[in-house]
Amino acid sequence: MLYSNPMTVAVIGTGFVGVVSAAAYASFGNTVVGLDIDEKKVADLQSGLVPFHEPGLPELLREALDSGNLTFTTDYKKAISNARVIIIAVGTPSKADGSADLTYVHAASEAMAGYLQPGAVVVVKSTVPPGTLHSVDEIIGKHTDVSYDLASVPEFLKEGTAVADTLKPDRVVIGATKDSTIKILSELHEPFNAEIVVVSPESAQMAKYAANSYLATRITFANQIANLCEHTGAQIDEVLSAIGLDQRIGSHYWYPGLGYGGSCFPKDVRELKHFAEQVGEVPNIFSAINELNEKRIPGIIEKLDAAVGGMGGKKIAVLGLAFKPNTDDMREAPCLSVIPKLVEKGAEVRGFDPAALSVARQILKEQSGLLLVDSLEQALEDADVVIVLIEWPEFVNFDYSMTKLDKKQWLFDARNQLDPAKVKSWGYEYIGIGQN
Ligand code: UDX
Repeated sequence: MLYSNPMTVAVIGTGFVGVVSAAAYASFGNTVVGLDIDEKKVADLQSGLVPFHEPGLPELLREALDSGNLTFTTDYKKAISNARVIIIAVGTPSKADGSADLTYVHAASEAMAGYLQPGAVVVVKSTVPPGTLHSVDEIIGKHTDVSYDLASVPEFLKEGTAVADTLKPDRVVIGATKDSTIKILSELHEPFNAEIVVVSPESAQMAKYAANSYLATRITFANQIANLCEHTGAQIDEVLSAIGLDQRIGSHYWYPGLGYGGSCFPKDVRELKHFAEQVGEVPNIFSAINELNEKRIPGIIEKLDAAVGGMGGKKIAVLGLAFKPNTDDMREAPCLSVIPKLVEKGAEVRGFDPAALSVARQILKEQSGLLLVDSLEQALEDADVVIVLIEWPEFVNFDYSMTKLDKKQWLFDARNQLDPAKVKSWGYEYIGIGQN
């Protein structure tokens, strides 16, 4: 569906959220300019190159560029002076104390302010703490005399399925107070065909943190029950399928593993923890969730070490370096905690990932005890222990009987995605999560 009333939109920040959003808004017929201070990124995007792995995004970007609806620039004046809606989608990394670093949001606000057209609507899409629009307003107000309004429209897309999540979201949350702003943003999001929830900016900002922290809590809960299962003879998958039939609980989104990672959950839980502590909400659940998640991998590595009779001298294949399948994003990926621990214990690690190898080669420096290899087969060569760390389909569906050797071998299924009976029938010792 195209807009009946296309708009001019500027998207500031061409990271993950910015590129997907810009391409999506353009695909519905709006005139969109993506703005970034990074010249190389802008040149790449303008020629159709997506600087990260996201299925379907190169095609959506190409289509939007070819239609003439999407361009990229480093020039604030060019991007902002014609824009009816300006979307801030820059990064908000965590500071050392766990609070959100708003430096880029504030810098973008200042840089754009002088070019705003009267009546422009500035939308903060970046994840920011409730109340952030006040500081944004203060900064913009200092640099312009035109009338403008502010809103918060948080992003809920998942990496790996970002295109589908953006084009067909479960809901669009518009945090705004002025009727004219609510009207413009409702029109902008009309073709997405999703339920539009209009709330205050603070509620929209809190909704983003609450959604991510709730999902992180579910995962941590499943992981805790999995730990208890290991002491009781219960099987986590059976327990989850049994309770999942309760309509209030559901069986979605809580398969156990090594804890949550990625660019959002760890950071958002820590920021909510920080926020809770600041307002005197102590104790709070976010603190516990964060601590449990951070301690999860060290605990599991100790269990694995005991299960394989010590990792010293063992050849270990680590399958999956991204934080989840279908992405090359390694932010808070489990391998970043797992591999150093294996190497420390004297193992010889071979790591492989179908998409994240080049990112991994920049982050994980190869060293004695660690080799990053170009194929699954190379990783598995002569392995004593196979760790299926990330549930890429090529790892879950692989026939490991082909790599079974005439020696004792273990397969650690860190996501409980393989069939234990099958793995055992191939001659491996099977180790899963929350299983006996
Ligand atoms: C998440 C939210 O889902 C999304 O709405 C938000 O906008 C950004 O953060 P993303 O980080 O891309 O998206 O990944 P997601 O698929 O939600 O997974 C997050 C982490 O939880 C991963 O480490 C994943 O492996 C883990 N996870 C997910 C589990 O351990 N168990 C599950 O059942 C689901």
